[in-house]
Amino acid sequence: MAFKKLQVLEEKGYVQLKPFDGELDPAEWESLEYVDWKSGGDTNFAILASANGEHDARGFWEYGKPDKGGVWVNDNIEKSPTFKKWTESAGADFGRVRVIKLNTSADYDEAVRNMHKDDNNRLTEDGTGWVVRAWLQLTDDPDSYMILRENKDDVDSEQHIHLNKGAVFLVDSERLDHAVYHPGKDPRYAVIASFESGPELESWVADNLP
Ligand SMILES: [Fe+2]
Repeated sequence: MAFKKLQVLEEKGYVQLKPFDGELDPAEWESLEYVDWKSGGDTNFAILASANGEHDARGFWEYGKPDKGGVWVNDNIEKSPTFKKWTESAGADFGRVRVIKLNTSADYDEAVRNMHKDDNNRLTEDGTGWVVRAWLQLTDDPDSYMILRENKDDVDSEQHIHLNKGAVFLVDSERLDHAVYHPGKDPRYAVIASFESGPELESWVADNLP
């Protein structure tokens, strides 16, 4: 048996989708409750969906679950209906959903040092959908970008995704090393959702190709 994966991610491990078509109101991310959780730089996270509906940034494996079947964190998701709607619009099973707040990177080299692969599939069962992640960029940071490499030391494979407001992209973030280089002086915010690969996610991608 093998995991179900998306054809569209096979070649490069990521796909850029159409920008978000709608209003992104800073009140939806600025009013959330954030937890101190470091991942890929100086970060905080607002937990929108977790394994148990609590403000818990830890992996679903702590609860014996694959990164699927996310439970909305009520007091945060009440304040961010657009993010709930966006996540549900994919039609796929979702796990972790959060807003990342990333403070300024010192420089590009620091971002490279922060590159990592996500642990998305520790408990994904054989034969079921491989978990990948989608990003929805909230702040307008066109000079900031996600750095992607097949492996951290494989410089030739480097790709950049620029972080204009509303940018949407899907990444097999357990396959690709990644980190964001953010030179802006204000924090950069984005929604990150874990999704199960399968026919639902495949048709969401097909409907949202640029
Ligand atoms: Fe990551």
